Amino acid sequence: MSLTVTQRTGKIWSLYLTSQRLAWSPAQVDLSHDAADWTRIRREHAREDYAGQLHRLVGFFHAGEESVCSHLAPLLVAASRLGLGNDVECFLTAQLYEEAKHFEFFERYAHEVLGEDGFVVDRELLAAPRAVLVDDLGTATARCATETDPAALRLALVEAATHYMGIVEAMLARTGYQGAGDALRTRGWLPGLQEGFRLIRRDEGRHVAFGIQLIRRLLRDDPSLAPAVLATFERHLPNVLATVQAFDVPHPIVEVSSLVGYALDAYQLVLAATRRRSRRSSTRPMRSRESVREQH
Ligand SMILES: [Fe+2]
Ligand SMILES: [Fe+2]
Repeated sequence: MSLTVTQRTGKIWSLYLTSQRLAWSPAQVDLSHDAADWTRIRREHAREDYAGQLHRLVGFFHAGEESVCSHLAPLLVAASRLGLGNDVECFLTAQLYEEAKHFEFFERYAHEVLGEDGFVVDRELLAAPRAVLVDDLGTATARCATETDPAALRLALVEAATHYMGIVEAMLARTGYQGAGDALRTRGWLPGLQEGFRLIRRDEGRHVAFGIQLIRRLLRDDPSLAPAVLATFERHLPNVLATVQAFDVPHPIVEVSSLVGYALDAYQLVLAATRRRSRRSSTRPMRSRESVREQH
């Protein structure tokens, strides 16, 4: 099945083409200055424990990127089974590759700069972030691979997309990359980590924009799914805020209040974007629900 004209000229296909245009390689990020910087930060800012805070950040990002890399494929499976369009499938295929590169960047950073492996940095992940970034995300996306009823599969995909793109990527990943990137840039520290944050954050913005489009498409076909978006946000909000609070320390390298502000702004933006579309399109005729396509 080829792309429809609407798909070829639509936002999701445009985002897919941007993925190709802005492709980058983790191996090409220059990390040669970061190891010496870590040593200096640890020595000169022992009292503030800035190195400890940055280590925790890298641990969160490493575990988070590993998790989203592992848990994206069921969304692609669900999109294919529901026949949502080749534009959706092409974008998710590109995103899967990008999440693998994000994980690769932090693997490389742990080895080359911190002299550790991923297992060591992953120990930084506390209970609340582990729940929202790993365990609950895995549960939500797994349903996209196992639901057989089309209506249940659509609900599972709306909830998984809200959790994945709305909560993990918009509220947590982009918040963390923006806050930490600003803190490093202001101080002129760790140029390799700054560059990695910049490149990954750019990709995450595209993933969030896609997630909004995907949720809109699902709500356009079935407006009754709209309450599931808000309910998913509300269910995980306590763990999102607890994740940000992990950086509420006596000498924070990033002000927690600004992190909370970024996260809540992202929540409002994603929710408003999906609701706007949902109301506009609620008067459109519903497309007949496609039957679940068999996987080959
Ligand atoms: Fe990512
Ligand atoms: Fe992402």
